[in-house]
Amino acid sequence: MAEHPKRKGIIIFGPPGAGKGTHASRLVEKLELAYIATGDILREAVAKGTPLGVEAAGYMNRGELVPDEVMIPIVEERLAQVNDKKGFLLDGFPRTVRQAAMLDDAARRNAIEIDKAIYLKTSKDAIVQRLSGRRICPGCGATYHVANIPPKVEGVCDKCGTPLVQREDDREAAIATRLAEYDKQTAEVIRYYREKGILAEVNGDLPVEASHPIIVKIISEGGRL
Ligand code: AP5
Repeated sequence: MAEHPKRKGIIIFGPPGAGKGTHASRLVEKLELAYIATGDILREAVAKGTPLGVEAAGYMNRGELVPDEVMIPIVEERLAQVNDKKGFLLDGFPRTVRQAAMLDDAARRNAIEIDKAIYLKTSKDAIVQRLSGRRICPGCGATYHVANIPPKVEGVCDKCGTPLVQREDDREAAIATRLAEYDKQTAEVIRYYREKGILAEVNGDLPVEASHPIIVKIISEGGRL
């Protein structure tokens, strides 16, 4: 009997402001994949004031990672729900080696193959410039940058017309903590995927128009688009 092809899992990761969300939102327009963005899940919970949001808000506003014990069950639950899709695109998870190991276990249980970990290698200068200029739409979640990716009308979302706002954790003190957390906890994840042979490094300093086709090519090499 012919075996069903395994569903695919693609990870996009890198430091804060590397462009994970920007690339991921363009990819999900093209790919038949479920999109799991842990930062978005948490921000939605904070906005709704759910118990998860109340617990996560302090960590997020300070720029610290939300504990693994909170994050892991959330992602496990989402992975179990991707049945109707070919697989998933993960943005913002894993951020610790413990999360990466859990992801491997959950993928095995759900017959998903983690196929590529796309690492957006980005300089500190670019990160600070991007985070300080980022504006987001509280209505539909679209992301802009005052200089790099401006909306057509200043301060207003192109997609839904809602006034744009700055993210709470894009203030200077929180940016410094996020960068320190990344160096302390998330940088190790690069080695984890390099050792597994699925790491694809992309220059995150490039403009989106230059780096996006590279990412699309990496993903499409395995016939995944
Ligand atoms: P999360 O939302 O995942 O934040 P992050 O990792 O800090 O990443 P960002 O969303 O800031 O940046 P991005 O890489 O998506 O860049 P973007 O595309 O927006 O997480 C937030 C918080 O939630 C964490 O700090 C933590 O507390 C918690 N959390 C989430 N997941 C967790 C987990 N797994 N475990 C524990 N805690 C977790 O781009 C940034 C700006 O630059 C934009 O303005 C964009 O327009 C612009 N831009 C993007 N690409 C380019 C480019 N190539 N050239 C020029 N400008 C660009």
